[in-house]
Amino acid sequence: MNILAFESSCDETAAAVVQDGRVIRSNVIASSVEVHALYGGVVPELASRAHVEAIVPVADRTLSGAGLTLNEVDAVAVTYAPGLIGAVLVGVNFAKSAALAAGKPLIPVHHVRGHIAANYLTHPDLEPPFLCLCVSGGTTAIVHVKDYTDMAVLGSTRDDAVGECFDKVARVLGLPYPGGKYLDELSQTGRDDAYVLPHAHVADAPMDLSFSGLKTAVINLVHNAQQKGEALSLPDLAASFSGAVSGALIPRVLHAAAETGCQRLAVAGGVAANSRIRKDLETACRQAGLRLFLPALELCGDNAAMIAAQGYYELLAGHTAPSGLNAYATRDLALG
Ligand code: KG4
Repeated sequence: MNILAFESSCDETAAAVVQDGRVIRSNVIASSVEVHALYGGVVPELASRAHVEAIVPVADRTLSGAGLTLNEVDAVAVTYAPGLIGAVLVGVNFAKSAALAAGKPLIPVHHVRGHIAANYLTHPDLEPPFLCLCVSGGTTAIVHVKDYTDMAVLGSTRDDAVGECFDKVARVLGLPYPGGKYLDELSQTGRDDAYVLPHAHVADAPMDLSFSGLKTAVINLVHNAQQKGEALSLPDLAASFSGAVSGALIPRVLHAAAETGCQRLAVAGGVAANSRIRKDLETACRQAGLRLFLPALELCGDNAAMIAAQGYYELLAGHTAPSGLNAYATRDLALG
């Protein structure tokens, strides 16, 4: 079964065709990141306008890359939540029109469920149940994937998402936007014990996280050094920060594994590309006897192949949408 999917929740206009939820036949991404880089963050209206311009050529390239016409796909999936509302609306409206024109089922997909499904594309043998650490620009959550469409959030951030924290810290270190990957590169040559940074705990919620204190601590450290004219080692600070983030995530994931008895852990979202987090998870999972599934680097960030993969399982579960499908800026992952 071939599913054509669209993703437009932030600054990537993406379309893909995936066969049976597992095999990528075509995967096209057009990004407006260079426009937003000028402003140091995504400008919602510019993102929406870029989607409007890009979505038709992206859809054309995707279908021709898969060697299919619209009439030959079996269903059309789309990210309908969460995201920048004006951006999500473009994809929803386009997918709805495509499904209607071709007389195909329309499948609404939660963006974070899509990130989780990126692991099905990388690991053909991965099946639920498993735990998934979801770390992106907008989400930080530990999810119990009980079945392909049955999920429970065990813990989440009380304030900033990890990716947001990476980007803000990168900005104060003078790195380009989006800074997560540049901070990751900078940290490679730094010492992670050079700066002592706070580790937050949420009282009575051992699987919840908090990153705003860590972010503020780095910003204050940089501003204080600037005011006193002191030099900081940016690689050391990047390494110390990355170590602090990883040190916050890993014990909570291990706690969730112990609570649920899950032996398998997957990771999802843009921050799943982070080298320090990947390395520390490999060590922690080896020591704890857990099997670790990391998504391919090219599938960590936003793409539509992951939406098509999840769309396949939503379709099997009978989760199709009427033509009145709307878009939502926020939406509970457990509700689908
Ligand atoms: O999943 P994604 O593409 O978009 C959302 O759904 O939010 O995630 C984007 C986030 C950005 O904050 C970006 O800086 C971060 O992922 N990111 C990284 C790395 N690569 C991307 N953060 C840390 N280390 C990386 N290597």
